[in-house]
Parts: sequence; structure tokens; C-alpha cells
Amino acid sequence: MKVTVVGAGAVGASCAEYIAIKDFASEVVLVDIKEGFAEGKAMDLMQTSSLNGFDTKITGATNDYSKTAGSDVAVITSGIPRKPGMTREELIGINAGIVKSVSSSILEHSPEAIIIVVSNPMDTMTYLVHKSTNIPKNRIIGMGGALDSARFKYRLAEALECPTSDVDGMVIGGHSDKGMVPLIEKATRNSVNVSEFLSSDRMDEIVQATKVGGATLTGLLGTSAWYAPGAAVSELVKAIALDSHKMFPCSALLDGEYGLNDLCIGVPCILGKNGIERIVEVSLSDSERTHLEESASGVTKTNGLLD
Ligand code: 2OP
Repeated sequence: MKVTVVGAGAVGASCAEYIAIKDFASEVVLVDIKEGFAEGKAMDLMQTSSLNGFDTKITGATNDYSKTAGSDVAVITSGIPRKPGMTREELIGINAGIVKSVSSSILEHSPEAIIIVVSNPMDTMTYLVHKSTNIPKNRIIGMGGALDSARFKYRLAEALECPTSDVDGMVIGGHSDKGMVPLIEKATRNSVNVSEFLSSDRMDEIVQATKVGGATLTGLLGTSAWYAPGAAVSELVKAIALDSHKMFPCSALLDGEYGLNDLCIGVPCILGKNGIERIVEVSLSDSERTHLEESASGVTKTNGLLD
């Protein structure tokens, strides 16, 4: 499998690193507009291959999409990241132009590529790729839910004082501080509902900490996070590469699912060699459904800023 990662900044480089370390792809091409930057990151990462034991070949290219030709998957991380105090939605003006031009360049050289969108505001950027490329909807995936769910599991494990491998939980809805819908009522520790271990106040705190997970890191780091976003992307790419049919919440174009239409928002998706193989409609409680509908209104409002 050949994977292109556009944007060799912290998130893009972290995607390339985790994809390489997991050793399922034959090639990763990093692309950046800054002269020599992607080449440098690729060389540095390649010099870890004997240390980390991977065979994936990583190369870099300065804005030369001919090097990405024949990619099976392309990840778009380009655009500006948020600074402390900024919302993801504030990035729309600059990032929309970048995402539109990058997706067109990718498809010019890899017409069959599955596109994974990471740039923010992610749900709106995913929608923009649908609107501007017209490729089949199964081939456009927004990465947010896998990251938000990882942050949710981290918070659950912290509260339960247990390893994250003991917990399971999922975040659906928009990838925004207000729009995330952590499904706390469904979260479990080894199949036991977490409400058996945690007070409802503690569960509320976990939900709030999850929703501002990215903003908390932006405050600490001065820019947006990269390790968990990179790791989340690598898991989506791996599910596609291995045709594993693993389920992740991803931003997908909805056409009636969950009673929603004409927007991209995080819902559980089965990923395989065709990208989104299936959207799974899980039953939601009244409160979960209300939160998802409110989140969808927020995403639709941000989508309106595209015009
Ligand atoms: C985050 O939440 C990059 O949006 C991303 O960290």
C-alpha cells in the first residue's frame, strides 16, 4: 500500500511515523510546501527504520504531487493549526482554500485514492472535499472520532484508575469543543457499565474533559497536539490496508442515517479496503440523540461559512 501524507508538520510527520512503525504500508510519501522540509522529515524518519524495525519506505517531496502518483490512501493534514484560545472553526478561511487545492492535486495523480481529512474544522473540511471532488462518499473519511474516543478512554481510565486496555468508549458528533458527544452511558470497563464504578458527577467531568481534550493540549503546547492525532490516523489507514472491518467513529457524509442529511459528522463506521464499508446506526438514548442533533446544527452552521 502507498500512502501520501500532505503536510509534514507535527501532525503529518507523526502520521508518517506511526504508519511506518506499524509496518503495514510499503511506502509513505510526505508532501509539504516548505522547500526541503518533507524531504528532511522523511530522511530523519528513515534513519529510525533500523532502530524501530520497519521496512516502510518514507520519501519527501516539496509540493510535487507527481511523487504521490498511485497512492491508495492520502491523508490531508495541511493548513494552519489552532493557537491557544482559538476554536477549530476559526481556521476555516485559510484552511478551506488549502484543503480544496490539496485534494484536487491528490486526485490528479491518484484518482482512486481514499482521502482522510485531518485539517480543521475537520467535519466541514471533509464536507468540502465531498463538494469539491464528487468522488464516491465511501472514499472520504474525516478523522476526529477516533482521536476523541482515544482521549475519552484516557479520561475514563484515569478516573477508574485502570489501564486504558480495560475500558471501551466512543465519541460521536462533531470534532469541536461543543459538538463532541462522548457516549458515557455506553462506556464500559470490561463490559461493565462505568456508571457502576463512577458517580454521575465524575462521569460529567469525564465528558467535559474529553470535549476540551484538544483545547487543553493547545493551551499546554502552544499549538495543537500531534501524537494522538497521528496515532489515530495510522489506525484508520491500517484498517483500510488490512481490510480489517474495524469500527471507528469517523466523519462521514450522511444521507438519512441518524435522521441527518447533507453534512459530515462523526458516526460509527466500518473501515475496510473501500474506505467506509458501512455506517453503523447504533440506538441512542434521548439525551444522546439530542446532543447529536445539536452537534449537527453546529456543523451545518460552520458548513454555511464555506459559501
Ligand atoms: C486535535 O483535536 C488536531 O483537531 C486535532 O488535537
